[in-house]
Amino acid sequence: MSGQEDRSCTMRDRNILFGITGSIAAFKAAGWVHALTKEEARVTVVMTRAATRFVSSLTFGALSGNRVYTDMFGEGDNETMAHITLPRMSDLVLIAPATAQTIARLAQGMADDLLCTAVLAGTAPMIICPAMNSNMLAHPATRRNLNTLKELGYVVIEPDTGLLACGDEGAGRLPEWDSVREVLLGLFIDDDLAGRKVLITAGPTREPVDPARYLSNRSSGKMGYALARTAKRRGADVVLISGPVHLEPPPGVELVQVLTARDMKKAVDKYAAESSVIVKAAAVADFRPTHAGVRKIKKAQAELKLELTPNPDILTELGRDRRADQILVGFAAESNDHEAEGRRKLKDKRVDLMVVNDIMGEKTGFDADTNQVTLISNDGVEQLALMSKEQTANCIWDRVAAML
Ligand code: CTP
Repeated sequence: MSGQEDRSCTMRDRNILFGITGSIAAFKAAGWVHALTKEEARVTVVMTRAATRFVSSLTFGALSGNRVYTDMFGEGDNETMAHITLPRMSDLVLIAPATAQTIARLAQGMADDLLCTAVLAGTAPMIICPAMNSNMLAHPATRRNLNTLKELGYVVIEPDTGLLACGDEGAGRLPEWDSVREVLLGLFIDDDLAGRKVLITAGPTREPVDPARYLSNRSSGKMGYALARTAKRRGADVVLISGPVHLEPPPGVELVQVLTARDMKKAVDKYAAESSVIVKAAAVADFRPTHAGVRKIKKAQAELKLELTPNPDILTELGRDRRADQILVGFAAESNDHEAEGRRKLKDKRVDLMVVNDIMGEKTGFDADTNQVTLISNDGVEQLALMSKEQTANCIWDRVAAML
């Protein structure tokens, strides 16, 4: 049994030095600090003087549970060397929002306030989230400064486009926390899937009976989405082919939405040849109604028999046509004879790894946030511990990365 605590899925116990500069978007940074502390990260906030004009340091003190640093020359003992001690204690420095002014000063290597000095003194990864008016962002001076920062090794997360606080429409908005969180988590994990094209299918398929009704199954898509999110974190180029689910698409992933098994097959066929890894986490409907009604079937006319036609088995076809250097991973959701069924499917579908889970368990079944799976390959059988679907996904990627 394996499955020790996997810190790559959470911000817990990470030491984050959070720099806040003078932009109206500073109010959004309050939400980010709150999200980080909720995940049990240790956040220390450094504010520039201009930032304190937008949001009070009291707000960040209350949200982080830590003292907030605003001055290079504070009076307490802790403060005299804060520009050295703060970055030394940090796993990561995040500056959000980063104004054009701070970006220019960082690009010049200036050390005229606590935040810039701490950045110069630090060796941890530095992430910059610019937020400003779109013209300021597009100005060649700002672009040049951002390029300088990238060349110096800073991670720059480009802002979103939309309605800005000044009323203009354009690029310059602070991105959503979820996408920034993904970048942060990606910095804490090896990018052992970098340069790999990974194709993942997720969720159920829906087979129409008539315009009002369909055949489907209870798959929530959570396992497939967790696989996509974690593969992206590990540096892969991810295409996620998804049946209908109620989940937010993972940031940075190409999402292809499909409905029926035949739609899914078409989409898989489009991407399969270029993919080095294909993971079929989708619960594909094995059958579809032979004659889907164009109009709603009326109770009075309905026959009590539904004629079904088998759907193509996408994974079996992938296994048949596979390239020697391609890794194929299948899933088997079972209610009984788990290992025997997993072994049978490994062989019949000619895949490298079968992930078998128990659909009858409360914490491993459909829609659960956790899973407990058995990994079956030609090298043997490995039972993983009960853990979150993201952690389970990471264990699967560990095995795939080793095979690659
Ligand atoms: N699969 C597929 N196309 C299908 C059916 C299944 O690609 N038409 C894939 C699933 O995505 C999964 C694997 O095959 O990765 C096993 O699916 P599962 O439903 O467990 O197995 P089946 O082959 O359908 O066998 P059974 O229903 O008899 O258990």
